[in-house]
Amino acid sequence: MMKAVYYREHGPASVLETGELPRPEPGPGQVLVRVAAAAVNPIDRRLRAGELQEYISRTFPVVPGWDFSGDIVELGAEVEGQWQVGDKVMGLAFTWAIQHGTYAEYVPVDATAIAPMPQGVDYFQAAALPLVSLTAWQSLQEYGELCAGQTALIQAGSGGVGSVAISMAKHLGATVYSTCSAANADYVKQRGADVVIDYTRQDYAAVIRDQSPEGVDLVLETLLGDGIAETAIRLAKDNGVVVFMNNEPPEMEEIARRGIKTQFLHHRADGAMLAELGQLYESGALPVPPIEVLPLADAAEAHRRSESTRTRGKLVLAVRE
Ligand SMILES: NC(=O)c1ccc[n+]([C@@H]2O[C@H](COP(=O)([O-])OP(=O)(O)OC[C@H]3O[C@@H](n4cnc5c(N)ncnc54)[C@H](OP(=O)(O)O)[C@@H]3O)[C@@H](O)[C@H]2O)c1
Repeated sequence: MMKAVYYREHGPASVLETGELPRPEPGPGQVLVRVAAAAVNPIDRRLRAGELQEYISRTFPVVPGWDFSGDIVELGAEVEGQWQVGDKVMGLAFTWAIQHGTYAEYVPVDATAIAPMPQGVDYFQAAALPLVSLTAWQSLQEYGELCAGQTALIQAGSGGVGSVAISMAKHLGATVYSTCSAANADYVKQRGADVVIDYTRQDYAAVIRDQSPEGVDLVLETLLGDGIAETAIRLAKDNGVVVFMNNEPPEMEEIARRGIKTQFLHHRADGAMLAELGQLYESGALPVPPIEVLPLADAAEAHRRSESTRTRGKLVLAVRE
Protein backbone atom coordinates (compact mmCIF):
# COMPACT_ATOMS: atom_id res chain seq x y z
CA MET A 1 0.00 0.00 0.00
CA MET A 2 1.04 3.64 -0.31
CA LYS A 3 0.02 7.05 0.95
CA ALA A 4 -1.97 9.02 -1.62
CA VAL A 5 -4.36 11.88 -2.22
CA TYR A 6 -7.27 10.83 -4.45
CA TYR A 7 -10.90 11.47 -5.40
CA ARG A 8 -13.68 8.90 -5.78
CA GLU A 9 -16.01 11.27 -7.63
CA HIS A 10 -15.80 14.59 -9.42
CA GLY A 11 -16.52 17.73 -7.44
CA PRO A 12 -15.02 20.66 -5.51
CA ALA A 13 -11.63 20.54 -3.77
CA SER A 14 -13.31 18.88 -0.77
CA VAL A 15 -13.64 15.60 -2.72
CA LEU A 16 -9.87 15.13 -2.27
CA GLU A 17 -9.14 12.51 0.40
CA THR A 18 -5.84 11.46 1.95
CA GLY A 19 -5.45 7.75 2.63
CA GLU A 20 -3.90 4.47 1.47
CA LEU A 21 -4.15 2.94 -2.00
CA PRO A 22 -2.51 -0.14 -3.51
CA ARG A 23 0.97 0.58 -4.83
CA PRO A 24 0.79 0.62 -8.67
CA GLU A 25 2.98 -1.57 -10.89
CA PRO A 26 5.05 -0.21 -13.78
CA GLY A 27 3.68 -1.37 -17.15
CA PRO A 28 5.83 -2.26 -20.17
CA GLY A 29 8.07 0.67 -21.08
CA GLN A 30 7.44 2.31 -17.71
CA VAL A 31 9.45 2.92 -14.56
CA LEU A 32 8.03 3.13 -11.04
CA VAL A 33 9.11 6.30 -9.26
CA ARG A 34 9.08 6.90 -5.52
CA VAL A 35 7.75 10.44 -5.57
CA ALA A 36 9.46 13.15 -3.54
CA ALA A 37 7.38 16.10 -4.70
CA ALA A 38 4.47 16.81 -7.05
CA ALA A 39 3.62 20.18 -8.57
CA VAL A 40 0.08 21.49 -8.85
CA ASN A 41 -1.20 22.57 -12.27
CA PRO A 42 -4.60 24.06 -13.22
CA ILE A 43 -5.36 20.88 -15.21
CA ASP A 44 -5.31 18.86 -11.95
CA ARG A 45 -8.24 20.75 -10.46
CA ARG A 46 -10.08 20.99 -13.78
CA LEU A 47 -9.97 17.21 -14.17
CA ARG A 48 -11.03 16.77 -10.52
CA ALA A 49 -14.01 19.08 -11.18
CA GLY A 50 -15.09 16.80 -14.03
CA GLU A 51 -13.97 18.89 -17.02
CA LEU A 52 -12.60 17.40 -20.25
CA GLN A 53 -14.25 13.97 -19.82
CA GLU A 54 -14.66 13.74 -23.60
CA TYR A 55 -10.86 13.74 -23.97
CA ILE A 56 -9.49 12.22 -20.77
CA SER A 57 -11.01 9.10 -19.22
CA ARG A 58 -10.98 8.31 -15.48
CA THR A 59 -10.65 5.16 -13.39
CA PHE A 60 -11.73 5.93 -9.82
CA PRO A 61 -10.28 6.47 -7.32
CA VAL A 62 -8.14 8.93 -9.27
CA VAL A 63 -4.83 10.17 -7.90
CA PRO A 64 -4.39 13.65 -9.43
CA GLY A 65 -1.16 15.17 -10.67
CA TRP A 66 1.21 14.83 -13.62
CA ASP A 67 4.36 16.69 -12.50
CA PHE A 68 6.81 14.93 -10.20
CA SER A 69 10.37 14.48 -8.99
CA GLY A 70 11.67 11.39 -7.21
CA ASP A 71 13.75 8.23 -7.50
CA ILE A 72 13.33 5.23 -9.76
CA VAL A 73 12.57 2.14 -7.63
CA GLU A 74 11.61 -0.37 -10.33
CA LEU A 75 12.01 -0.83 -14.08
CA GLY A 76 9.09 -2.27 -16.06
CA ALA A 77 9.50 -4.71 -18.94
CA GLU A 78 11.17 -3.34 -22.07
CA VAL A 79 12.93 -0.48 -20.26
CA GLU A 80 16.47 -0.65 -21.44
CA GLY A 81 19.71 1.20 -21.25
CA GLN A 82 19.45 4.67 -19.89
CA TRP A 83 17.63 4.18 -16.58
CA GLN A 84 18.70 2.45 -13.35
CA VAL A 85 17.02 1.89 -10.01
CA GLY A 86 18.12 4.78 -7.78
CA ASP A 87 18.26 7.44 -10.53
CA LYS A 88 16.92 10.84 -9.45
CA VAL A 89 14.44 11.97 -12.06
CA MET A 90 11.74 14.49 -12.86
CA GLY A 91 8.98 14.05 -15.37
CA LEU A 92 5.47 14.36 -16.62
CA ALA A 93 3.17 11.41 -15.89
CA PHE A 94 0.71 12.63 -18.51
CA THR A 95 -1.87 10.15 -19.80
CA TRP A 96 -5.21 10.35 -21.64
CA ALA A 97 -6.60 7.83 -19.09
CA ILE A 98 -6.03 9.03 -15.55
CA GLN A 99 -5.79 6.88 -12.42
CA HIS A 100 -2.23 6.79 -11.06
CA GLY A 101 -1.15 10.42 -10.67
CA THR A 102 1.72 11.99 -8.80
CA TYR A 103 0.01 13.08 -5.54
CA ALA A 104 1.10 9.70 -4.14
CA GLU A 105 4.16 7.89 -2.83
CA TYR A 106 4.62 5.93 -6.07
CA VAL A 107 3.78 6.67 -9.71
CA PRO A 108 4.27 4.55 -12.82
CA VAL A 109 5.48 6.68 -15.74
CA ASP A 110 6.63 6.10 -19.30
CA ALA A 111 10.41 5.92 -19.45
CA THR A 112 10.25 8.30 -22.44
CA ALA A 113 8.65 10.99 -20.24
CA ILE A 114 11.38 11.38 -17.62
CA ALA A 115 14.69 13.22 -17.43
CA PRO A 116 17.57 13.39 -14.96
CA MET A 117 17.08 15.95 -12.21
CA PRO A 118 19.31 18.97 -12.92
CA GLN A 119 22.27 19.36 -10.54
CA GLY A 120 21.79 22.14 -8.00
CA VAL A 121 17.99 21.89 -8.20
CA ASP A 122 16.21 20.26 -5.24
CA TYR A 123 13.29 17.83 -5.43
CA PHE A 124 10.72 20.57 -4.80
CA GLN A 125 12.10 22.83 -7.52
CA ALA A 126 12.48 19.94 -9.97
CA ALA A 127 8.85 18.84 -9.55
CA ALA A 128 7.73 22.31 -10.67
CA LEU A 129 9.60 22.19 -13.97
CA PRO A 130 8.25 19.55 -16.38
CA LEU A 131 4.73 20.59 -17.39
CA VAL A 132 5.23 24.35 -17.60
CA SER A 133 8.70 24.08 -19.17
CA LEU A 134 7.61 21.64 -21.88
CA THR A 135 4.48 23.69 -22.58
CA ALA A 136 6.37 26.97 -22.88
CA TRP A 137 9.28 25.55 -24.92
CA GLN A 138 7.00 23.65 -27.32
CA SER A 139 5.00 26.87 -27.78
CA LEU A 140 7.83 29.38 -28.13
CA GLN A 141 10.75 27.46 -29.61
CA GLU A 142 9.30 24.42 -31.35
CA TYR A 143 5.98 25.72 -32.75
CA GLY A 144 6.66 29.46 -32.65
CA GLU A 145 10.33 29.35 -33.74
CA LEU A 146 10.83 32.49 -31.69
CA CYS A 147 14.26 33.96 -32.28
CA ALA A 148 16.53 36.89 -31.52
CA GLY A 149 15.19 40.31 -32.42
CA GLN A 150 11.54 39.22 -32.37
CA THR A 151 8.78 40.38 -30.01
CA ALA A 152 6.46 38.24 -27.89
CA LEU A 153 3.44 38.79 -25.67
CA ILE A 154 3.34 36.35 -22.75
CA GLN A 155 -0.03 36.65 -21.03
CA ALA A 156 -0.22 36.08 -17.24
CA GLY A 157 3.54 36.41 -16.71
CA SER A 158 3.33 35.65 -12.98
CA GLY A 159 1.65 32.25 -13.43
CA GLY A 160 3.41 28.92 -13.77
CA VAL A 161 3.56 28.93 -17.56
CA GLY A 162 4.19 32.68 -17.80
CA SER A 163 7.05 32.58 -15.29
CA VAL A 164 9.08 30.12 -17.34
CA ALA A 165 7.90 31.38 -20.74
CA ILE A 166 9.25 34.88 -20.06
CA SER A 167 12.73 33.59 -19.24
CA MET A 168 12.67 31.23 -22.24
CA ALA A 169 11.63 34.05 -24.59
CA LYS A 170 14.48 36.19 -23.23
CA HIS A 171 16.88 33.25 -23.59
CA LEU A 172 15.82 33.02 -27.25
CA GLY A 173 16.59 36.73 -27.66
CA ALA A 174 13.09 38.19 -27.91
CA THR A 175 11.67 41.40 -26.49
CA VAL A 176 8.89 40.45 -24.09
CA TYR A 177 5.60 42.13 -23.22
CA SER A 178 3.80 40.53 -20.30
CA THR A 179 0.62 41.10 -18.28
CA CYS A 180 -0.03 40.77 -14.54
CA SER A 181 -1.63 42.73 -11.70
CA ALA A 182 0.32 45.48 -9.90
CA ALA A 183 1.27 43.16 -7.02
CA ASN A 184 3.26 40.98 -9.44
CA ALA A 185 4.79 43.73 -11.60
CA ASP A 186 8.24 43.65 -9.94
CA TYR A 187 8.28 39.88 -10.05
CA VAL A 188 7.45 39.75 -13.77
CA LYS A 189 10.12 42.35 -14.44
CA GLN A 190 12.63 40.20 -12.53
CA ARG A 191 11.73 37.20 -14.66
CA GLY A 192 12.92 39.31 -17.60
CA ALA A 193 9.88 40.98 -19.14
CA ASP A 194 10.85 44.19 -20.96
CA VAL A 195 7.39 45.76 -20.76
CA VAL A 196 5.09 44.83 -17.86
CA ILE A 197 1.44 45.76 -18.30
CA ASP A 198 -0.91 45.93 -15.31
CA TYR A 199 -4.06 44.48 -16.86
CA THR A 200 -6.21 45.86 -14.03
CA ARG A 201 -5.36 49.44 -14.96
CA GLN A 202 -4.27 49.42 -18.57
CA ASP A 203 -5.64 48.05 -21.83
CA TYR A 204 -2.80 45.67 -22.72
CA ALA A 205 -3.70 45.65 -26.40
CA ALA A 206 -3.54 49.46 -26.53
CA VAL A 207 -0.12 49.49 -24.83
CA ILE A 208 1.27 46.96 -27.29
CA ARG A 209 -0.23 48.72 -30.33
CA ASP A 210 1.30 51.95 -29.11
CA GLN A 211 4.80 50.48 -28.71
CA SER A 212 4.74 47.93 -31.57
CA PRO A 213 2.21 49.30 -34.09
CA GLU A 214 2.89 46.47 -36.54
CA GLY A 215 2.10 43.88 -33.83
CA VAL A 216 4.21 41.19 -32.14
CA ASP A 217 5.82 38.13 -33.69
CA LEU A 218 4.31 35.73 -31.17
CA VAL A 219 1.45 35.70 -28.66
CA LEU A 220 1.35 33.02 -25.95
CA GLU A 221 -2.30 33.22 -24.93
CA THR A 222 -2.91 31.55 -21.57
CA LEU A 223 -6.16 33.39 -20.79
CA LEU A 224 -9.77 32.66 -21.58
CA GLY A 225 -12.54 35.25 -21.78
CA ASP A 226 -14.71 37.38 -24.02
CA GLY A 227 -12.75 38.74 -26.97
CA ILE A 228 -9.34 37.60 -25.67
CA ALA A 229 -8.68 35.13 -28.48
CA GLU A 230 -9.68 37.66 -31.15
CA THR A 231 -7.45 40.30 -29.56
CA ALA A 232 -4.53 37.86 -29.61
CA ILE A 233 -4.96 37.35 -33.36
CA ARG A 234 -5.21 41.10 -33.97
CA LEU A 235 -2.05 41.73 -31.95
CA ALA A 236 0.04 39.36 -34.06
CA LYS A 237 2.09 40.73 -36.94
CA ASP A 238 1.35 39.54 -40.46
CA ASN A 239 2.84 36.01 -40.66
CA GLY A 240 3.12 35.98 -36.86
CA VAL A 241 2.28 33.16 -34.46
CA VAL A 242 -0.50 32.85 -31.86
CA VAL A 243 -0.44 29.85 -29.51
CA PHE A 244 -3.58 29.15 -27.48
CA MET A 245 -3.31 27.24 -24.21
CA ASN A 246 -7.03 26.69 -23.58
CA ASN A 247 -8.98 26.95 -26.80
CA GLU A 248 -8.99 26.44 -30.53
CA PRO A 249 -8.24 29.61 -32.52
CA PRO A 250 -11.26 31.83 -33.22
CA GLU A 251 -12.83 31.81 -36.66
CA MET A 252 -11.49 35.00 -38.23
CA GLU A 253 -10.90 35.57 -41.91
CA GLU A 254 -7.79 37.60 -41.19
CA ILE A 255 -5.94 34.51 -39.92
CA ALA A 256 -5.56 33.19 -43.47
CA ARG A 257 -5.41 36.62 -45.10
CA ARG A 258 -2.54 37.79 -42.87
CA GLY A 259 -0.77 34.42 -42.86
CA ILE A 260 -1.02 33.92 -39.10
CA LYS A 261 0.12 30.55 -37.81
CA THR A 262 -2.09 29.57 -34.91
CA GLN A 263 -3.26 26.54 -32.97
CA PHE A 264 -4.38 25.19 -29.62
CA LEU A 265 -1.22 23.59 -28.31
CA HIS A 266 -1.35 20.77 -25.79
CA HIS A 267 1.96 19.97 -24.13
CA ARG A 268 3.70 16.71 -25.05
CA ALA A 269 5.51 14.60 -22.45
CA ASP A 270 8.98 14.46 -23.98
CA GLY A 271 11.81 13.22 -21.77
CA ALA A 272 14.53 14.09 -24.29
CA MET A 273 13.35 17.69 -24.55
CA LEU A 274 12.96 17.85 -20.78
CA ALA A 275 16.56 16.67 -20.37
CA GLU A 276 17.75 19.49 -22.66
CA LEU A 277 15.72 22.01 -20.69
CA GLY A 278 17.15 20.51 -17.49
CA GLN A 279 20.62 21.38 -18.78
CA LEU A 280 19.52 24.98 -19.30
CA TYR A 281 18.25 25.11 -15.70
CA GLU A 282 21.42 23.44 -14.44
CA SER A 283 23.68 25.95 -16.19
CA GLY A 284 21.62 28.89 -15.00
CA ALA A 285 20.71 29.86 -18.58
CA LEU A 286 17.11 29.54 -17.40
CA PRO A 287 16.17 30.52 -13.82
CA VAL A 288 13.97 28.00 -12.00
CA PRO A 289 10.55 29.43 -11.16
CA PRO A 290 9.84 30.29 -7.51
CA ILE A 291 7.87 27.67 -5.64
CA GLU A 292 5.72 27.47 -2.55
CA VAL A 293 5.74 24.07 -0.85
CA LEU A 294 2.71 22.64 0.97
CA PRO A 295 2.36 19.24 2.64
CA LEU A 296 0.63 16.58 0.56
CA ALA A 297 -2.25 16.54 3.05
CA ASP A 298 -2.98 20.17 2.04
CA ALA A 299 -3.73 19.22 -1.57
CA ALA A 300 -7.31 20.53 -1.28
CA GLU A 301 -6.02 23.89 -0.08
CA ALA A 302 -3.54 23.90 -2.99
CA HIS A 303 -6.41 23.28 -5.44
CA ARG A 304 -8.44 26.11 -3.90
CA ARG A 305 -5.46 28.43 -4.28
CA SER A 306 -5.05 27.37 -7.90
CA GLU A 307 -8.77 28.01 -8.45
CA SER A 308 -8.26 31.60 -7.31
CA THR A 309 -6.09 32.03 -10.49
CA ARG A 310 -3.89 34.42 -8.46
CA THR A 311 -0.93 32.20 -7.46
CA ARG A 312 2.59 33.32 -8.38
CA GLY A 313 5.11 30.81 -9.73
CA LYS A 314 4.39 27.20 -8.79
CA LEU A 315 2.66 25.39 -5.91
CA VAL A 316 4.42 22.15 -4.97
CA LEU A 317 3.25 19.33 -2.68
CA ALA A 318 5.83 17.63 -0.48
CA VAL A 319 4.99 13.95 -0.91
CA ARG A 320 7.94 12.39 0.91
CA GLU A 321 8.44 13.40 4.54
N1 LIG B 1 -2.36 23.64 -23.28
C1 LIG B 1 -1.49 23.22 -22.38
O1 LIG B 1 -0.73 22.27 -22.57
C2 LIG B 1 -1.41 23.96 -21.07
C3 LIG B 1 -0.33 23.71 -20.21
C4 LIG B 1 -0.24 24.44 -19.03
C5 LIG B 1 -1.24 25.37 -18.71
N2 LIG B 1 -2.28 25.54 -19.56
C6 LIG B 1 -3.31 26.54 -19.24
O2 LIG B 1 -2.69 27.80 -19.27
C7 LIG B 1 -3.24 28.65 -18.27
C8 LIG B 1 -2.13 29.18 -17.38
O3 LIG B 1 -1.58 28.11 -16.64
P1 LIG B 1 -0.66 28.42 -15.39
O4 LIG B 1 -0.19 27.13 -14.84
O5 LIG B 1 0.32 29.46 -15.75
O6 LIG B 1 -1.76 29.06 -14.41
P2 LIG B 1 -1.56 29.75 -13.02
O7 LIG B 1 -0.18 29.53 -12.52
O8 LIG B 1 -2.69 29.32 -12.16
O9 LIG B 1 -1.76 31.32 -13.36
C9 LIG B 1 -1.93 32.19 -12.29
C10 LIG B 1 -1.54 33.59 -12.73
O10 LIG B 1 -2.49 34.09 -13.66
C11 LIG B 1 -2.46 35.50 -13.56
N3 LIG B 1 -3.69 36.08 -14.09
C12 LIG B 1 -4.96 35.79 -13.71
N4 LIG B 1 -5.82 36.51 -14.45
C13 LIG B 1 -5.07 37.28 -15.30
C14 LIG B 1 -5.39 38.23 -16.31
N5 LIG B 1 -6.67 38.55 -16.61
N6 LIG B 1 -4.38 38.80 -17.00
C15 LIG B 1 -3.10 38.48 -16.72
N7 LIG B 1 -2.74 37.59 -15.76
C16 LIG B 1 -3.72 36.99 -15.07
C17 LIG B 1 -2.29 35.77 -12.09
O11 LIG B 1 -1.58 36.98 -11.95
P3 LIG B 1 -2.21 38.18 -11.07
O12 LIG B 1 -2.42 37.60 -9.68
O13 LIG B 1 -1.15 39.23 -11.12
O14 LIG B 1 -3.51 38.52 -11.71
C18 LIG B 1 -1.49 34.56 -11.58
O15 LIG B 1 -0.15 34.88 -11.29
C19 LIG B 1 -4.29 27.82 -17.52
O16 LIG B 1 -5.54 28.10 -18.08
C20 LIG B 1 -3.89 26.39 -17.85
O17 LIG B 1 -4.99 25.51 -17.81
C21 LIG B 1 -2.40 24.85 -20.73
